[in-house]
Amino acid sequence: MPSFPVPRTYRVKSFGCQMNVYDGERMAELLDAQGLSPASGEDADVVVLNTCHIREKASEKVYSEIGRLRREDGSAPLIAVAGCVAQAEGEEVMARAPLVRMVVGPQAYHRLPAMLERARGGERVLDTDMPAQTKFAALPERRRAGPTAFLTVQEGCDKFCTYCVVPYTRGAELSRPFAQLVAEAERLVGAGAREITLLGQNVNAWRGEDEKGREVGLEGVIAALARLPDLARIRYTTSHPRDMREPLIAAHGEIDKLMPFLHLPVQSGSDRVLKAMNRGHRAEDYMKLLDRVRAARPDIALSGDFIVGFPGESEAEFAETLALIDAAGYAQAFSFKYSARPGTPAATMPGKIAPEIMDERLQRLQARIGQGQLAFNRHSVGRRCAILIERRGKLPGQWLGKSPWLQSVHVIGDARIGDLVPVELTGAFANSLSGTAIAASPAPAPA
Ligand code: 5AD
Ligand code: SF4
Repeated sequence: MPSFPVPRTYRVKSFGCQMNVYDGERMAELLDAQGLSPASGEDADVVVLNTCHIREKASEKVYSEIGRLRREDGSAPLIAVAGCVAQAEGEEVMARAPLVRMVVGPQAYHRLPAMLERARGGERVLDTDMPAQTKFAALPERRRAGPTAFLTVQEGCDKFCTYCVVPYTRGAELSRPFAQLVAEAERLVGAGAREITLLGQNVNAWRGEDEKGREVGLEGVIAALARLPDLARIRYTTSHPRDMREPLIAAHGEIDKLMPFLHLPVQSGSDRVLKAMNRGHRAEDYMKLLDRVRAARPDIALSGDFIVGFPGESEAEFAETLALIDAAGYAQAFSFKYSARPGTPAATMPGKIAPEIMDERLQRLQARIGQGQLAFNRHSVGRRCAILIERRGKLPGQWLGKSPWLQSVHVIGDARIGDLVPVELTGAFANSLSGTAIAASPAPAPA
């Protein structure tokens, strides 16, 4: 059995969704607490590949990444495969990739330090348990935060959309306790976060008791975080239309720190396809929901996810999706070609769509979304708002940050990272805006 010297450095590479980014940060903190330091170069003694299983392409990436880690002398770092590929096909990863020493599922990574110890002795260790006791209580406190931070409040999914692996890889819906979330948010703000994005596969399904013991939904967490004086902005993602309840909608009109942005995937505009996807809502329900959200917050920026080429999707059904896009008015959206995932009900449905048809539909859909996005950005020109500065731009005196509507903005002016700078938006492009810092305080606008 090979044994490894005491590891001193680590690297965590996350793929896929924002929840993986959050898990990657927490794994890094665990390794910090073991006395390891983040590797500055490419090479590290421990490498964690935090994987995504949502589509086939994402899933296959892990094997090419592993291959790349073999050094010229044939040696390799201590490699851990984490995330949803680990959960879904951990045994297969072990069999297919002998370089992998550890496989750890998304609900078990708090045990990474103990696994590392065993792996160092030469064992190959697999832990894909979904323990009833959550990992969160076992993780070290947050110490690092940039101006924008992620906070996972909810995990898992009980919706079982027929195309999706998440209910199998992330398990049942689970809401973290209210007090734990407020405490973590306080730590993040103490470490410098000005904006917190609350994360969950079904974030708006969060349920719990607030500090007074009242049953609340996500709006209760948002209200509590809004009371932290140094926190300027709150966001949340991803929401399911079926869990979008009145108090959360109302919060968009009542809580200034809650940003005017909503990621609300619909996936398709065809009722037949929505039914086959087991989404639990029709296109009309979604449109009515948008009316209610816009009544509470007229300027809200809408974002979504779309799947093209779901089994049996006809040209007419695809046209219904395009029509919904026009009617809904998206500020941005993500779109994907349907990818059959082993073990999901849709994988065995008849009516496979040919790859060239999927390609062509995806292009048409993305063009439509691009038009909407440009229109939304153009509509913002002339507005004054605060931009949260995240990093330096490429040009001298230029900074990059986000508007309340989550647009990327290149700002010219005096600023520092973490500042909320009053800006006049001056130019619009497909994926970003330009703006100039203004000295005077901005016209009433969201922070
Ligand atoms: N094929 C294509 N896209 C998928 N998504 C989820 N599962 C699949 C799949 N099997 C998309 C959905 C979801 C987003 C995160 O990924 O649009 O909202
Ligand atoms: Fe997957 Fe549907 Fe759950 Fe979203 S709601 S994670 S798409 S099963």
